[in-house]
Amino acid sequence: TEDGYDVWLRYRPLPAAAQARVWAQARSLVHAEPASPTLQAAVAELKRGVAGLTGHEPKVARQPTAGALMLVTPATAPAGVALPWGELGAEGYALRSLTLQGRAVTLIAACTDRGLLYGSFAWLRAAQTGADLAALNQQSTPKVALRLLNHWDNLDRTVERGYAGASIWDWWKLPDLVDARYTDYARANASLGVNGTVLNNVNAKAESLTAPFLAKAAAVANVLRPYGIKVWLSARFSAPKDLGGLPTADPLDPAVRAWWKAKADEIYRAIPDFGGFLVKANSEGQPGPQDYGRTHADGANLLAEALRPHGGQVMWRAFVYAPDTGDRAMQGYAEFQPLDGRFAPNVIVQVKNGAVDFQPREPFHPLFGAMPKTPLALELQITKEYLGFSTHLVYLGPLFEEVLRADTRRQPQGATVAQQVTAIAGVANIGTDRSWCGSQFDCANWYAFGRLAWDADLSAEAVAREWVQQTFTTAPGAVRTLTALMATSREAVVDYMTPLGLHHLMGTGHHHGPAPWVNDLERADWNPTYFHRAGRDGIGFDRTPTGSNAVAQYAPEWAARLSRPESTPEDWLLWFHHLPWDHRMASGRTLWAELIARYDRGEARVAEMRAQWAAVRADIDPARHAEVAAYLAVQAAEARWWRDACVAYFQSVSGLPLPAGTRPPE
Ligand code: GCU
Repeated sequence: TEDGYDVWLRYRPLPAAAQARVWAQARSLVHAEPASPTLQAAVAELKRGVAGLTGHEPKVARQPTAGALMLVTPATAPAGVALPWGELGAEGYALRSLTLQGRAVTLIAACTDRGLLYGSFAWLRAAQTGADLAALNQQSTPKVALRLLNHWDNLDRTVERGYAGASIWDWWKLPDLVDARYTDYARANASLGVNGTVLNNVNAKAESLTAPFLAKAAAVANVLRPYGIKVWLSARFSAPKDLGGLPTADPLDPAVRAWWKAKADEIYRAIPDFGGFLVKANSEGQPGPQDYGRTHADGANLLAEALRPHGGQVMWRAFVYAPDTGDRAMQGYAEFQPLDGRFAPNVIVQVKNGAVDFQPREPFHPLFGAMPKTPLALELQITKEYLGFSTHLVYLGPLFEEVLRADTRRQPQGATVAQQVTAIAGVANIGTDRSWCGSQFDCANWYAFGRLAWDADLSAEAVAREWVQQTFTTAPGAVRTLTALMATSREAVVDYMTPLGLHHLMGTGHHHGPAPWVNDLERADWNPTYFHRAGRDGIGFDRTPTGSNAVAQYAPEWAARLSRPESTPEDWLLWFHHLPWDHRMASGRTLWAELIARYDRGEARVAEMRAQWAAVRADIDPARHAEVAAYLAVQAAEARWWRDACVAYFQSVSGLPLPAGTRPPE
């Protein structure tokens, strides 16, 4: 039965004509002997994939026969074949169809076995997406070096902001029992090029660095290693006190430095290729260097010093905000930008895509491009904390694409966010659910994260299409319908939750459902009213020079644009401006009428999505079709709930009548 466990690695039989085309190019596999564990993984995947897609398993051959797939490196490539080795680096690959001594063969070429693994997955993707396998000429190299999942998984197996069951890391049974699921996790990630994973929550327990847990993490690392995935851990800054019994965790204290050094040495004895630490410090109550009057740079450099002899790195998060210090959206920049140039070379500052918190839409974070001397990581959230959990169908490819392509107008002029980062991290949406992510379509978000982290120039729509082809069906009509459904789903959630730059109107704490009226939380900057500022006079957060002046944190060109409503993108309007209800919008409507029109549009789009899903019923297996249909029904009800609650609340505040023809909220 179909339950989604195989995600996009299903390898179900292709239509007959396609089967013949694939089998013609994969009758045998040729590779170096003895094969490393990574090369073995590549060969096993090709066998499994071709067998599933065509019903025939290719045999391993010593010499190329007609229709051979050859996995080659510079040392084993056939003489006389020119390949762009110099451009492939440690992870890139090339796929080439060519004729060798009169035989048509395909080369999967890379400088390393890891590249061959990625190339093998790319060939399987090509086979399933209708590429002409007899005339392949592809080449791909990732531009961003570190592509990580961040699990917010606790050691008791609860998952913070997780909506897909318990943590897949079975800490109780590790290291003695190593769940076969870890291998499937590794395969899925390797198919995307994810090359690192942080196993535990950023709200970290010090226990994750004790010897028993390190042994468990080492067992996971052993499974992931052949797939090119390094294990990282979140570290609690106060660990020298919590575990080491020291009186302080002051980063400048020699005993604290010695403790971290010894801890790093111990970790590398257990996990020789350990990636490094991810740290949330002085944020939402977590301990950090500021507890001792030191800076984020002092704290990050302390850990960097301990990891450096082993080649490890520190990802230090810039998600910080303290109570009552003005505009919450400004704090990350205010604390971190002045530290540019003060971080050790093996520190990467990890910045969320936007300055508040993983909203359906946020302008890009002003730190991108603003710390030229510091490597930055982009942090995206794959789990849908603020986007309807796992019940709402929201394809995040367009959200990821939007931030990756955002043009910061920083030096060098025109650099996009993607061009300014050395790492991309995604907060995972994975759990023990059979379908991994809590819903079938949420797997598309894991997929899109990995594909776009590998190559930010891919279009979110193309990524959706190939995911559908591998996950559901290759029938062209259904592929078109589902790709279109996915493409509009993100704009739908923006419309029915937080249109026109509104943000953080969600139920407080759990972040599900509408709560724009909440105004009584202990911290001002946790209240939805703090963010929308709606009153008789209008709505929106003034972040121009007449307000918080957050616009000044952007490059001068953006600062000037965002200071005036006329030159602010409408999708960001109320993020930056407080405007009267009768403000004229591009549509010719008043702001009040436009706001309602957007809520209506969001609700209507969900109805269209249901119709699109119903239309592909014949092409989808019944179990998965029924599951998605049931979730879409929930989403339709909740989109209406959002629309009605927000329209009713904002009307109570604006005191304005509903525009003619508007459905009164229930
Ligand atoms: C959000 C989220 C928290 C999380 C935090 C973070 O605030 O709600 O659960 O810990 O982000 O990114 O650190």
